[in-house]
Amino acid sequence: MRSGEVAAHLNELGVDAFGIDLSPGMIEVARRNHPGLRFEVGSMTALDLPAASVGGALAWQSLIHVPDDEIPAVLGHFHRALRPGAPLQLLFHVGDESWLKTQGYGGHPMKVHVHCRQPGPTRVVSW
Ligand SMILES: C[S@@+](CC[C@H](N)C(=O)[O-])C[C@H]1O[C@@H](n2cnc3c(N)ncnc32)[C@H](O)[C@@H]1O
Repeated sequence: MRSGEVAAHLNELGVDAFGIDLSPGMIEVARRNHPGLRFEVGSMTALDLPAASVGGALAWQSLIHVPDDEIPAVLGHFHRALRPGAPLQLLFHVGDESWLKTQGYGGHPMKVHVHCRQPGPTRVVSW
């Protein structure tokens, strides 16, 4: 998935979607690929969104970089920003391992922790 692609797809479907990422580089690419859409640098550990201001949220392969002790705060931010009953979709690696990733795609040097997790009881929501 290229940066900004999901927000762009949702906008094509008529959803007023925007993107937030910790990485200024990711945001720069998203803005370049999808001019006119809203992309902002920000952290889900300090989510700066008004209470009950969004009708849904996706966090795909990003919680994997948040350490265990910060997960409750992140989920609290999501809960506060989402309207009551709004869906939240989390995508993450399933497992018990954590490791330090030192190479990005294309061999670029990086230093980022990856945390696998176990899903809780499955709840299927359809709409
Ligand atoms: C594996 S990429 C996934 C990118 C995108 N969500 C996707 O599905 O294609 C992980 C992303 O999480 C972002 N990230 C890591 N920690 C974050 C945080 N605390 N808040 C927001 N984004 C974060 C990284 O900058 C990176 O762009």
